Amino acid sequence: MSTVKIKIDNKEYEVPAGITLIQACDLVGIEIPRFCYHDRLSVAGNCRMCLVELSVGPKKPQASCATQVMEGLEVKTDSEMVKNARNGAMEFLLANHPLDCPICDQGGECDLQDQAMFYGAGESRFLEDKRAVSSKNLGPLIKTHMTRCIHCTRCVRFITEVAGVPELGAVNRGEQTEITTYVEQSLTSELSGNIIDLCPVGALTSKPYAFKARPWELTKTDSIDIHDALGSNIRVDSRAGEVVRILPRLNEAINEEWISDKARFAYDGLALQRIDRPYLRKGGKFIAITFEEALDIIADKIIETQESKGEIGALAGDLADIESMYLLKELMNELNSKNYDARPKNSSMANNNRAEYIFNTSIAAIEEADLCLFIGTNPRKEAAILNARIRKQYVNNKDFIIANIGVENDLTYPYEQLGNSAQIINELISGKNKFAQKLKKAKKPMIIVGESVYLRADSQAIIAALYSLVAQFSIVREGWHGFNILHNAASRVGALDIGFIPPQGGKDTKAMLDSTQKQKLDLMFLLGYDQQDVKELEHSFNIYIGTHGDEAVSVADIILPAACYTEKDALYVNLEGRVQQVTQAIKPVGLAKIDWEIINGIKKSLKLSYYTNLKNLRDKIYKDFPHLAICDEIKPSDESKLPTVKTANSLTNEPFKNYVENFYFTNVIAKNSVTLTKCVQEILGKKNG
Ligand code: SF4
Ligand code: SF4
Ligand code: FES
Repeated sequence: MSTVKIKIDNKEYEVPAGITLIQACDLVGIEIPRFCYHDRLSVAGNCRMCLVELSVGPKKPQASCATQVMEGLEVKTDSEMVKNARNGAMEFLLANHPLDCPICDQGGECDLQDQAMFYGAGESRFLEDKRAVSSKNLGPLIKTHMTRCIHCTRCVRFITEVAGVPELGAVNRGEQTEITTYVEQSLTSELSGNIIDLCPVGALTSKPYAFKARPWELTKTDSIDIHDALGSNIRVDSRAGEVVRILPRLNEAINEEWISDKARFAYDGLALQRIDRPYLRKGGKFIAITFEEALDIIADKIIETQESKGEIGALAGDLADIESMYLLKELMNELNSKNYDARPKNSSMANNNRAEYIFNTSIAAIEEADLCLFIGTNPRKEAAILNARIRKQYVNNKDFIIANIGVENDLTYPYEQLGNSAQIINELISGKNKFAQKLKKAKKPMIIVGESVYLRADSQAIIAALYSLVAQFSIVREGWHGFNILHNAASRVGALDIGFIPPQGGKDTKAMLDSTQKQKLDLMFLLGYDQQDVKELEHSFNIYIGTHGDEAVSVADIILPAACYTEKDALYVNLEGRVQQVTQAIKPVGLAKIDWEIINGIKKSLKLSYYTNLKNLRDKIYKDFPHLAICDEIKPSDESKLPTVKTANSLTNEPFKNYVENFYFTNVIAKNSVTLTKCVQEILGKKNG
């Protein structure tokens, strides 16, 4: 990396060539005030807050965000000229700014407020009336107060450059300038909430959070998101035992500083339709019981089932954590049952080799790839933040080739549509398809396979063909692993890691659902299993350990209230195979208990071995699966080679289908969120209508 020597405030520094002055100052720890500049957006240079004095060029202040470093350049960031320039820029910004701080949701975390304190003149010489701009309706997520807008255009640049949905822009000029959606409409991007964080003032704030709290009243808890399989890093803000806001946390390897609208706004679903105490179905009605009564009934039922040689099964849902699945598997083993599964019905996903089921390339390394081929997936709907990373690579690298086999969706960037048939994989292998040439030339090709591929009747044949494709084009090679599964659920990789799938002779999800229909399975544990197909369990005695009164409740015989992801400490493994932890921000509602404690209670009531605390349980998990003890890292796969799959199955002509049709309603928390319900009505309703 070439460097240049520059002097900042009479001190010499060596900084990378090609960066801007504001970046150089950031690198050496000298603070430059700013409004429009943002590391991850293009340079606008329009707020003039970052002015500095230079030794070259005209004798007037220069915008440090729009000036590149050069050898020998001398920069002053604290001269009289700079102070006057900052005073002037601030005076202009405030000339038309309302005196709203006491009623502004940005108060206490506002860049304008903070910078006015440090760099403002103290009083204004403007006596004219302030301008007023009407607020815009951007939909159910973002509240606008456009009189406060300082026209930094961060929101416009984010929605155009990062989200790739250019729905915001500046109209008119000078004093008449306004930020708008042109024709008033809701923003449709799945990442739109990020403009709330980017807006340096209170022009764009969170609609659901409006007037809820002041920042100094909040308890802030670092955690991770579980609404998709990415494990985006988040901060959970709570007040008086209620989650009132969710914000992104910087993690360059996963979500950078963005989160999806589902991760940000689903939190109101944490408090709605919650199961807050145990229930027993009696005479077609639920009656409230205590935990002790519930555990006694369950113990009796298990003993009765075993004595009558009945079968027991367990299904884990999309949001289940490692601890509870581990304990449930242990319980199933102790009850001599091999019937447990955490995969959706019909899934053929195997866990023999970790490389077969994780996103091997890693999210960050998408920025190294020169070719990306999607197979049966819509990353925009299944993992919006991952899709933004692919778009980033498309924006930064014009040679990046993107192609798709599957449904033709709007992914926010252009791509080659190869068709919607699995047969195309064979055409690529045989070289009949022209795209094979591009695959051959690619230095770092990656393929992203959707989870839906594993649900097809011909999935084994597709997997066999995909592994041949990987071998043929060296998609896995020295220093590069281009084979990736795009999971949809936070629980899935963890479940595959700890083997929460049936061993030889056990029943998988489909077999269990079929068995109960034929009255062959007598007792079922449903650990947060809320899929639509749970309704097939009408003949078994169903013990539902879950959070919301959703699909499973209609077939549950006993309901045990469990904790949501903001109410417990628990481990999850993201789609890359990275172990992360959710942290308890608030207490579980009512009588609800943390999931592993409920299963531990069942074991105790059956007089089986049990754990005295979370540490003991985790120590046992780490003993069995040492890689789970290392948080925030991806365990390098010992077996990076993909196996050869032998199958009698052959590829069919059945087209691939979208796995996620409704981005907002993919799990039980999101489905119970009023905010996301409004999104479905106002954003999806409009798109479809
Ligand atoms: Fe005050 Fe900032 Fe709100 Fe303006 S945007 S009213 S300065 S808190
Ligand atoms: Fe900047 Fe906020 Fe105005 Fe957008 S709305 S231009 S982010 S001040
Ligand atoms: Fe440089 Fe706005 S930060 S002009």
